[in-house]
Amino acid sequence: MRKPFIAGNWKMHKTVSQALELIEELLRLVAGEDEVRIAIAPPFTSLYPVAQRLKGSNVELSAQDCFWEDEGAYTGEISPLMLAEVGCTYCIVGHSERRHIFGEGNEEVLRKARALLEHGISPIVCVGETLPEREKGQAMETVKHQLHGSLKGITKEEMTRVVIAYEPVWAIGTGKTATPQQAQEMHAFIRDWLGQAFGGDIASSCSILYGGSVKPTNIQGLMAMEDIDGALVGGASLDAASFAQIIKGGKR
Ligand code: 13P
Repeated sequence: MRKPFIAGNWKMHKTVSQALELIEELLRLVAGEDEVRIAIAPPFTSLYPVAQRLKGSNVELSAQDCFWEDEGAYTGEISPLMLAEVGCTYCIVGHSERRHIFGEGNEEVLRKARALLEHGISPIVCVGETLPEREKGQAMETVKHQLHGSLKGITKEEMTRVVIAYEPVWAIGTGKTATPQQAQEMHAFIRDWLGQAFGGDIASSCSILYGGSVKPTNIQGLMAMEDIDGALVGGASLDAASFAQIIKGGKR
């Protein structure tokens, strides 16, 4: 069965000293928690020091983005090769903030996902519709298009290492969570699509996380849904106590 997975996306928050302070408290609060897979995604500057502190713990390290080349004249970019050496086991790709603020498209997301897989890092591939798309009844069409474009040519073996995060753009940082039913409907649609694209085994083992205003108060309702395997948490992961509560609420 799919082990629940709770990941915290810190976005552009926390200096190195603040990051170390936060994980100190988090590690204390979630020590021995083995029913939930836990990961945190701090900004690039904190990855190395945080990795040192996470060694031997039950919390894994994720990056928030990457570039697809190993090295070269790409000012400002960070490669999967660098992330692997630091100790990242996951990397978020195609987050809606990357797609909408930085103009990233499916083609870039796919290149990043492939490069990560080559370096043994699991991509957390984000998809999700905007409010106008949902209101026009195009939510599923949008997500299908993103899945198709971001996973094109990925092999079945590679797909066993990919995590999908459904994050409706209208629910991110707005306090408006999708209802468990709305989220379940899309997660089931995504699993069905995965089944058609990669086969039933891949579809039933793939973790599909929900993201968008996940809080200690709504995690249990979401996790009660058959196809919701965990959460990608933004704001509520910046506080150790609330993130730990979400982790505990993520148990089945
Ligand atoms: P919030 O939990 O702050 O809505 O952010 C969700 C998100 O974008 C996680 O990647």
